[in-house]
Amino acid sequence: MGFDKGHFKIVSTGHYTPEAVLTNRDLEKMVDTTDEWITSRTGIRERRIANGKTTSDLATLASRNALEKANYDKNDIDLIIVATFTPDLKSPSVACMVQAKLGLDKPGIMAFDINAACTGFIYALNIAERMLHSGLYKSALVIGAEVISKVMDYKDRNTCVLFGDGAGAVILEKDESREVLFNISSKGDQDLILYVDEYINMDGPKVYQFASRVIESSIRGLMEFGNMDTAMIRKIIPHQANIRIIKSASKALDIPLESFFINIHKYGNTSAASIPIALDEMLEDEATQADDKIVLVGFGAGLTYGACSLTL
Ligand code: ACO
Repeated sequence: MGFDKGHFKIVSTGHYTPEAVLTNRDLEKMVDTTDEWITSRTGIRERRIANGKTTSDLATLASRNALEKANYDKNDIDLIIVATFTPDLKSPSVACMVQAKLGLDKPGIMAFDINAACTGFIYALNIAERMLHSGLYKSALVIGAEVISKVMDYKDRNTCVLFGDGAGAVILEKDESREVLFNISSKGDQDLILYVDEYINMDGPKVYQFASRVIESSIRGLMEFGNMDTAMIRKIIPHQANIRIIKSASKALDIPLESFFINIHKYGNTSAASIPIALDEMLEDEATQADDKIVLVGFGAGLTYGACSLTL
């Protein structure tokens, strides 16, 4: 499959990033690196660190932010999906913990996590769309949340400069007037170029090559599937892993860099949280209109990748 067409409206968005900031200058004192190297190779200037808060804490705070912004009745929510590779525990799921922290206990709520690494939020949106489409669920809370600092080796300069903690959330309802398109894939990773055991392990240059290739192909495939041209896209929200990956996608697709929303300098790579955090900040910062099309695009461990276009 890979390609899918559906409908939903984004009722609200929210995010939460922890207060504690870890700057490039701080990292200079921890590993053999420099602010200049990190900024020029990645675009990252600082990242947030959860400092004791859990993934479900961050996810709950992002969800509350989304609920408050729309003055939304939390009791309407009957589906909770969390995309994460850093759950608090192996079980229960972060989604069930968020449910408890929000005080949602009416019968009939389904809550579960998915792990598709940095593409997780796009996978979760596709699952939520299908479940709303079935008519069995009316209101979906979809969250990307990570505390990556707990699987970070702060002695490994190859990885520790790249990642940060955070969470983003959206509330979705079915709406036949708003089209959503998906182009989603996974290719497996026989060589394990990106995996997490105690810590994150990564062959940076190989991930870089993979990412640059699939951002372009995911967006091209999506546009072809939806008969879209670039003029129809209000903004592209890419997974925030490396500014150079985003710049190479902009060049390959011949879409100006200004059309890509970028906040990597503030948060680094927050994996499944990066796209929903950026979506929320984009909607806060930029004037948008009903019917604007937004394209989300991600890639990550798995190797997973995919793109999605939403109608505001
Ligand atoms: N500070 C200083 N030097 C460093 C650092 C650092 N923090 N990290 C690596 N280096 C060194 C390397 O050791 C190497 O030194 P050498 O030439 O003496 O061996 C040199 O810098 C160049 O290393 P490269 O790996 O070639 O650097 P590159 O320009 O490729 O950038 C980077 C590395 C930033 C990791 C890049 O490859 C990248 O962004 N890859 C993609 C990462 C990514 O997106 N990961 C997330 C995927 S999503 C998910 O699911 C988690």
